Amino acid sequence: MCGIIGYVGKNKCISILINGIKSLEYRGYDSVGIAYYLNNKINIVKDTGRIKDLEKELDINTNSYIGIGHTRWATHGGVTKYNAHPHRIGKITLVHNGIIENYLELKKELINNNYKFISDTDTEVACAYIDFLYNKYNDIYTCLEKIKNIFIGSYALCILCDDDTDTLYITKKGSPMIVGISNDGNIIASDISAIVNYTKEYIILEDHDIGIINKNKYIIYNNDNTVNREILTFDKNIDTISKDGYDHYMLKEIYEQDNLITNTIRHYIDNKLPDISKYKHIYIVGCGSAYHAGLVGKYYIENFLNIPVTVEIASEFRYKKLFINDNDLVIAISQSGETADTIEAIKIAKKYKAKVLGIVNTYKSTIARISDEVIYINAGIEVSVATTKAYSLQALYLILLSLNNKINLDNISNDIKKIYDIDYSKYINKIYDKEHVFFIGRGIDYYLSLEGSLKLKEISYIHAESYAAGELKHGTISLIEESTPVIAIITDKNLASKTISNIKEVLARGAYVILICNENINVDSDIYNELITIPDNNCLTPILAIISMQLLSYYVAKKRGCDIDKPKNLAKSVTVE
Ligand code: F6R
Repeated sequence: MCGIIGYVGKNKCISILINGIKSLEYRGYDSVGIAYYLNNKINIVKDTGRIKDLEKELDINTNSYIGIGHTRWATHGGVTKYNAHPHRIGKITLVHNGIIENYLELKKELINNNYKFISDTDTEVACAYIDFLYNKYNDIYTCLEKIKNIFIGSYALCILCDDDTDTLYITKKGSPMIVGISNDGNIIASDISAIVNYTKEYIILEDHDIGIINKNKYIIYNNDNTVNREILTFDKNIDTISKDGYDHYMLKEIYEQDNLITNTIRHYIDNKLPDISKYKHIYIVGCGSAYHAGLVGKYYIENFLNIPVTVEIASEFRYKKLFINDNDLVIAISQSGETADTIEAIKIAKKYKAKVLGIVNTYKSTIARISDEVIYINAGIEVSVATTKAYSLQALYLILLSLNNKINLDNISNDIKKIYDIDYSKYINKIYDKEHVFFIGRGIDYYLSLEGSLKLKEISYIHAESYAAGELKHGTISLIEESTPVIAIITDKNLASKTISNIKEVLARGAYVILICNENINVDSDIYNELITIPDNNCLTPILAIISMQLLSYYVAKKRGCDIDKPKNLAKSVTVE
């Protein structure tokens, strides 16, 4: 989702800005742009499409030392050059991440004050409004103080003003923003990946911070007082941001799971995880795959710890009648740690005084910071928009929590390798040219099927639906036709016979059944067309099944020629509600 960057310093800025927005590319985008001052005159270059096309219009030797950049993931208005950032009105040029929810109201006010707009965006309105205030107060800091009470929604803004061409002005509410600090200059970004090539030292801004950033100093204010935000050092290895010879990041990340899962389990044989057994009720919130991982967690926590678990899609949490209290735990799951819906769910949980445990990948992200306790899954940077290793580690951590530090699992690596070794080609040929694919399973296998179908649809654009196996006959079975692929999952022996009955129902209607089955479950060869055998590894068998579905989806998408790491319309870090 939108990413912002800004630089002011002793170095020429164009290549710093381009490298910065390239690092933000993984968040998902459809347009890009940068603005810079050259001899005190603003230059804006922006367009739809990829950064490499924008680069052709820019000269890295330009003698400019201050600029801002943006990757846009369309929310308000289509994917057009006019809607791309930076936006400029009067003396103000800015980039924005977030959504100004009351922009239509503000736009009316501005139109009544003779402002004209060329885009459909909320950001152009924000830009005009700051210009409007600037004409009144003649001071950007005052304008940014004022907008706190005017703009409704979320924003991280990085602003240039023609009257002060040596300064970046920044502020944020809801959307993430950091300032990388160095002796050569200061760099603003939405996340750490965009600054690490320039500096390892950074501060994280809090909501309503206002920053005045120059080449050799930065001042942060909050509520009219200067504040010292803690200077952090990024000490992780960033060399991992490369495909290492794999065709796609997604494949590389699928293959990283062997080491990641094995090392995580080994680590927690000797080290302790928080004890969650003391809570009366556990809620798990997350979005998309994180929500699916939560469902796997529910299954194990309820079965092993006898604690009721409610899993909610984070964006739906606020619409539920909640019965949470201070005896309860809310587990918030997020790879990016910046998912706006999950952040909002945490805020609600806190209102009810529940304890919040974040299961997060991104170090010092918002969710990591606002949770009472955090478990880092340490998956390393996940570049592919479709999550693989982060999902598996989220599920793994929930399984480990359900074991309450009685961990006795350590032979997973061989089993994961067996999944890697499967030849997926014969299965993909039955799927890649189809319009619809169904995934079915019962109990935990239904939870896995949800993730399997999400993976397939998001990267291959084949319509894939997941159904609780017993539910199919209550309606959806009418969509099964001759050779419709149905991927059936049976990892749990107790569910086998009933799921097999449901498989027979679809076979009778012509479905082509690919059965993903635990090796220790005997199935007759007449209940499937193809069989993918999964090693039995007790409570880790579901993770093995998921890895096989990740690979299946990957190879289907590859055969269809899809842009696997950057599926259309999707964003890696979903920072709007
Ligand atoms: C699917 C996928 C998404 C994310 C979801 C939550 O492959 O990646 O469904 O799982 O957007 O993102 P995080 O985990 O960053 O909160």
